[in-house]
Amino acid sequence: MENKKVIFSGIQPSGSLTLGNYLGAIKNWVKLQEEYDCYFCVVDLHAITVRQEPKDLRKNTLEVLAIYLASGIDTDKNTLFIQSHVSAHSEAAWLLDCFSYVGELSRMTQYKDKSQKQGDSIPAGLFTYPVLMASDILLYQTDLVPVGKDQMQHLELTRNIAERFNNLYSPTFKVPEPYIAKEGAKIMDLQDPTKKMSKSSENPNSYILIMDPPEVIRKKLSRAVTDSVGIVNYTDDQPGVKNLIDIICCIKGISTEEVVSQYANKGYADLKKDVAEIIVEELFPIQEKVKELLNNKAYLEEVYKKGAEKANYISRKTLRKMQKKIGFIQ
Ligand code: TYM
Repeated sequence: MENKKVIFSGIQPSGSLTLGNYLGAIKNWVKLQEEYDCYFCVVDLHAITVRQEPKDLRKNTLEVLAIYLASGIDTDKNTLFIQSHVSAHSEAAWLLDCFSYVGELSRMTQYKDKSQKQGDSIPAGLFTYPVLMASDILLYQTDLVPVGKDQMQHLELTRNIAERFNNLYSPTFKVPEPYIAKEGAKIMDLQDPTKKMSKSSENPNSYILIMDPPEVIRKKLSRAVTDSVGIVNYTDDQPGVKNLIDIICCIKGISTEEVVSQYANKGYADLKKDVAEIIVEELFPIQEKVKELLNNKAYLEEVYKKGAEKANYISRKTLRKMQKKIGFIQ
């Protein structure tokens, strides 16, 4: 147990989770959980960088936790917790804010995209958010961070902040590596396959939610944008079809070549229908389990309380080290 390398990852409870969150993050976590000492967090502090309805935030936070469990994360072997229950995250974020530069934060593409939607009132938290993410990761002396491709820039920043602090004082943080799986790293929008699938899209046909009922999944897939080539190829020139192939590969664990050869004599209608069934088959058992878990609030509470206890203990150790090195009286 002690010698295992450490994994940290998290998902924002800022709405219902998508198939992108599942294939880009959670499905890989399930695969990695035996080999690593894992911390999987519901990052509610991150979610409030954009306005949240309090009752929705409460509901979504528990739903994300239930999805982690229903997807197969084992609570005996991993630490599952809610970020706001572990105050070291907020405290470390302030400290690291003072070691991060406005210039580097201004270059974050996610900030540029999200701030554009906020008009004149851009919350400062949206700007400093990557520093909170760095704190999440660095507090646990994390070796590996399994995420989708969109988080790569934030991870590079985390590494820079860690190295800066280590060089300024003395080694304090482990410098983490990203883990981005080949398949599922970037699941695309079903209506505009040049964009990442995201829960913030205005058109619900753009995304599949983990909790979408089977008939909704089938309908959304039947409307997925493809192209006029009419042949199932895995190429950047056919981004819609490529995305559907990626989804199959990721869920089934098969290669793109295998999928392409299976559809040599078939059209897009068959492909879309099959993708819908493959997704339904994967998600339906998870959905049933999530519903069951959400009816058992006492169990969820037991899980997140136990997780917070361990996370508090571990994160405090790093926080104290930081405080001492900075020069705070202890
Ligand atoms: P978030 O909540 O936007 O997304 C959670 C995870 O899902 C992945 N993801 C995708 N992967 C593939 N295709 C997609 N279309 C897709 N959409 C989302 C994301 O890459 C991510 O892995 N800042 C993070 C949350 C965070 C975090 C952390 C992650 C906070 N602290 C510490 C790792 C470590 C975020 O907003 O992810």
